[in-house]
Amino acid sequence: MPLVYDAESKTFTIHTSNTTYQMQVDHLGYLLHLYYGTRSEGHMGYLVTYADRSGMCASPHDAGTRTYSLDVLPQEYPFQGTGDMRCPMLEVRDAEGTFGCDLRYARHEIRSGKYGLPGLPAVYAADDEAQTLSITLRDERLGLEVELLYGVLPALDIITRAAVITNTGDARVTVERAQTACLDFVTGDFDVISFNGRHAMERRLDRHPVGNGAFSVGSRRGMSSNQYNPAMLVVDHDATETSGRCWSMTFVYSGGFEAQVERDQFEQTRMQMGLSSNMFSYPLEPGEQLVAPEVILTYSNAGMERVSHNLHRCIRKHVCRGPWRDSPRPILINSWEAAYFDFTGDSLVRLAAKAAELGLDMLVMDDGWFGNRIDDFRALGDWTVNEEKLGGSLHDLVQRINDLGLKFGIWVEPEMVSEDSDLYRAHPDWALAVPGKEPVLGRDQLVLDLSRKEVRDNLFEQLCAVFDQANIEYVKWDYNRSIVDVYSHVASDQGKVVYDYMLGLYDLLERLVQRYPNILFEGCSAGGGRFDAGMMYYTPQIWTSDNTDADNRMTIQYGTSFCYPCSAMGAHVSACPNEINGRDVPLGARGLVAMSGGGFGYELDLQELPDRACDIIRGQVEMYREIEPLVREGLFYRLTTPKDDIVSWEFASEDASKVMVCAIVMKVEGYGEAEYVVPRGLTPGAMYRELGSGKAYAADALMDMGLPLPVSCAPYANRLYRFERID
Ligand code: GLA
Repeated sequence: MPLVYDAESKTFTIHTSNTTYQMQVDHLGYLLHLYYGTRSEGHMGYLVTYADRSGMCASPHDAGTRTYSLDVLPQEYPFQGTGDMRCPMLEVRDAEGTFGCDLRYARHEIRSGKYGLPGLPAVYAADDEAQTLSITLRDERLGLEVELLYGVLPALDIITRAAVITNTGDARVTVERAQTACLDFVTGDFDVISFNGRHAMERRLDRHPVGNGAFSVGSRRGMSSNQYNPAMLVVDHDATETSGRCWSMTFVYSGGFEAQVERDQFEQTRMQMGLSSNMFSYPLEPGEQLVAPEVILTYSNAGMERVSHNLHRCIRKHVCRGPWRDSPRPILINSWEAAYFDFTGDSLVRLAAKAAELGLDMLVMDDGWFGNRIDDFRALGDWTVNEEKLGGSLHDLVQRINDLGLKFGIWVEPEMVSEDSDLYRAHPDWALAVPGKEPVLGRDQLVLDLSRKEVRDNLFEQLCAVFDQANIEYVKWDYNRSIVDVYSHVASDQGKVVYDYMLGLYDLLERLVQRYPNILFEGCSAGGGRFDAGMMYYTPQIWTSDNTDADNRMTIQYGTSFCYPCSAMGAHVSACPNEINGRDVPLGARGLVAMSGGGFGYELDLQELPDRACDIIRGQVEMYREIEPLVREGLFYRLTTPKDDIVSWEFASEDASKVMVCAIVMKVEGYGEAEYVVPRGLTPGAMYRELGSGKAYAADALMDMGLPLPVSCAPYANRLYRFERID
C-alpha cells in the first residue's frame, strides 16, 4: 500500500518504489513533517527534537511548555500566526484586515486514483497507477479550511502536492500568500540548484551552498519567465549525477512563482514553492476557494540523474497529453529565421518545396501572416489572414504545401494585442492597463485580459475561424512580454487578476486542445519564457530558446534537462554565423544538438544552401527518424557538463537494449590528448555492438573506461555512437 494511516500515532506514510514520505498529526493537532527520503519502514518521529530554546521561540498557548515551538519544528504546511518566524506557506487576513490563522488537523481521506484540480493543469494517472491522500486543516475562528492534496505515483517515485483553500466561514478572508509545497529538513548541509537566465539564454544551472538566510528565485512577470524557471533542487553538498541525496520541486504552473530555500537559526533547512505573492491578494468570500497549483516532488538517494529520470517519465506520460505525446513529431522548417516578416505565399511554397526535397515533414508559417502585421509594432489581436500577402486564401496555400507532401503549421500569439490593431480600437478596455496611467509596453504590445470570459470567447472564435479554414496540423502558441500593469475592468478585486489570468489562459487552451485534438501545439514565449510543466499539459513541446546557436544551446538544453524531458524541447538547426551571437558551428554539430530535442527542425533559408549542406541535412533527417524514439522515450544521461572539454550526453531505451551516445569536441590542442566518452545505464555483463563500426564492446568496460574519440579533431567535431545490445 503506497498510503498508510496509523490511527494510533496519527501518522501518514507514503511509500513509493524507492522513497518514503511521512508526517504526523501531533498532540496539538499540528501537522508535522517527519521524513522524506530513502524508502524505510517504521516511525520517524524520533527525528524531531524538543528543547527549550529560550523565550525567543514562541509557543502556541495550549502547548503548555516552552519545549514546543513551531519556530523550530518541521512542518507540512507552515502558516503565519503560529510563532514560526520562518517563511510561511500561507498568510491570510480576516475581514478586518487582521493577519493570522491557526490551522489544525480536521479530517483526512485516502482514495485510489490521482486527484485533479479545477481549471488547472495537473499530473494525471490511471486509477491503478496512483493514489490520493487528502488532509484537511481547519481554522475555527475564520472558518478557513485548507485541503492538502498528495498524489502518489509509486512506480515513478513521484509525489505531487496541491492545496485547496476554502472559506467556509461567514466573512471574507483574503489570501496574501499561498505556497503549495514545503520540505522542512531538521538536519543536513545542502546545495541549492536553480535555473536562471534571460531571453535567448534560459535555464543556466546555478549551484551554491545553502547558507543562513533565504535564497529565493521567482517570477513577478505573470509568466514562469526566461529569467528563472519554476524548478529547484536541494542536494547534498557532494551530490553528483550518480550519488548523493537530491530533492526536487517542479511547479505545474505558468504564471508568477516563488521558489525558496531558507536555513534557520538552528541550521535547519526549509524548501518551498508556490505562487508569487507579487500583486497577489486574493479575497475569498464565504463559500469561495483558491487552489494553490500543483508541485511535483521527487527524491533520489542516487544523485541528480535519477531525479531527472523520475521527472522525465512523469512529465512525458502523466503531464503531456494527446496523440502527440506518443508519436514521432514532424520534422519542420520554420519561416522565422528563414524570412522573418519577409515572405509571400509563393516564397513559402518555394521553401516548402526545398524542405520536401530534403525529406522534412512540415512547413511552419511563423509571425507575419495576419492583419497588417508588416513588423512587430502592430496587428496582434487581428487574427485574419492577410490574403494579399499570401497571394490567395489560407486554404489554397495549405493545399499547395500539402500537395508537396508537407504538413502545414501556423504561429499565433493570442494573449496579446497591439495598440495599432482593430481589436484594440474596438475594445481598448480588453487590454490590461491601469486607468489614468500610460501602460508599459513590451515589444510594443499589451496583454489582453484573459480573466474575462468575453475576451477568451473572442479569441476562441477568431482562432477557430483560422484553424477551420485549412488543414492546419500544428500551432505555435507564442507569448512575448511580461505582465506589468494589472487592472481588469470586471474584477471584483484587482488582487485576483494575475491568478485569474492564468485560469483564463488554461481555459482557452483547454477549449482549443479539446476542439482540435490532433493539432500539435508547441508552446513558446520569447523562446523559452514559459518552459514549464503547466504549459506541457497543453503543449507537449515548447520552443526551448530563441537562441539557436548550438554551443549556447548545449548549456540551455543541459539546464533544461534537469527537470524536463528532451521530448518537450523544440530545437532547430539555424544559419551560421548565428544571428544572435555571431558564432560559426559546423552543420554536423548544429544537427546533433538539435536532434537531441523531441521537436526537431530547421529554421533557415534552405534554398540558399550549397549541395554539400543539403546532403548533410538529408543525412540528419534520415538519422533523426531512426533515433527519434530514443529521444522521445529514452532515459537521458548527462555524461559531462557543457563546460567540459568534450560535451557528451546519452539516450538509452528503458530496457537499455538501444543506446545513443553524443559528443561534441569543445577544446582542441596541437597533438592533444585522447578524450573518452563514458556511457552509463548499459546492461552489466552484456555485449553491445556499435552500429557505425560494427565492433562489439563489453558494457562493463565501456561504463568503466569509456570509448576514445578520434584524437585529431576539429573544434565542434561531433560524434554519434549508436549501440545495440547483443542479446
Ligand atoms: C518570438 C518567438 C520566435 C518567433 C517570434 C515571432 O520571439 O520566440 O520564435 O516566433 O516571436 O515574432
